[in-house]
Amino acid sequence: MTETNSAHRSFDLKQYSFPTEQIPRLSITDPEAERRISKALPVLLTDTNLVTSALHWDLEYLSEHIGDGDFVVHISKNKNFQYFDNKKSVNVKDFQKPTEKEDMKFSEFVEKLKKAKPGEDRLYLQQILHDTVGKKVINDFLGFNWHWVTRQQKDNHFGEMTSNLLLIGMEGNVTPAHYDEQENFFAQVRGYKRFILFPPSQFSSMYPYPIYHPCDRQSQVDFDNPDFTRFPKFKEACGMETIVGPGDVLYIPMYWWHHVQSIPSQGYTISVTFWYKAGQAEKIEYPLKPQQKVAMMRNIEKMINQALNNSAEMPDFMSNMTLGRYT
Ligand code: OGA
Ligand code: FE
Repeated sequence: MTETNSAHRSFDLKQYSFPTEQIPRLSITDPEAERRISKALPVLLTDTNLVTSALHWDLEYLSEHIGDGDFVVHISKNKNFQYFDNKKSVNVKDFQKPTEKEDMKFSEFVEKLKKAKPGEDRLYLQQILHDTVGKKVINDFLGFNWHWVTRQQKDNHFGEMTSNLLLIGMEGNVTPAHYDEQENFFAQVRGYKRFILFPPSQFSSMYPYPIYHPCDRQSQVDFDNPDFTRFPKFKEACGMETIVGPGDVLYIPMYWWHHVQSIPSQGYTISVTFWYKAGQAEKIEYPLKPQQKVAMMRNIEKMINQALNNSAEMPDFMSNMTLGRYT
């Protein structure tokens, strides 16, 4: 076995304005690992073998075997690849798309990646894996440790699996802080990524965009240059971090904030996500958990936005409802 204990590698990592502690790095045989997943706490698992069958993936192999389907490639003028929902663009006057998106064949992506120069457009392939892939890649996919991951899904009462997203990014690419409404076993295949997570209880420190905004679920705070005048509670943010390397799996619980950076080491990174719907809500117990409150805030915000039928009226409405009364 090759040693891929990234905890022992040293990378030159940027210091941000907030403190972090390490996410525990555990074997699946450690009961603490299972305990953390069952408590919706992040954990890095070193020996799931979830994507062992894909550890030989590289651009050459994938070019040959991934098939001639179309792949979604995000293009950014800078290192950030902030997600946005273009359907919500109509809700915001003069919304500037943070990135562009292009469908291309895998071979085109590889060509562009090879030609890319520092300071020019960056690329990040983010494609849901589907059945247009070639035989060999299908076999690798069938060789994923479905036994382990399905066991986790059952034991932790997750809903159905929704998708596997294949991510191939240039080193240095950043996915800025956001949360997802799904459970995620994030599997690293090639290269290294630094993950910084914040719990759902830090919602108010992260200043998410309003629900109607295309950048819903994303933090408004620029980690590289935080505006503490607009976002004073970001001073209270306190994260957890880790580095994932080939074969590692990071459990990212639903509603946990995550900021992800591909660390310079091998030119590009390859990852595969295993996304699951939320589990059925068990009997509700009080006090509500922070993640349940986030879900509730989202629903209420959606209802108000729908009732007003005009997102432009949201800021006034929301502040009239709370300012000086709840603040
Ligand atoms: C995710 C995610 C970003 C990345 O898996 O939910 O946000 O750059 N990944 O890997
Ligand atoms: Fe995410």
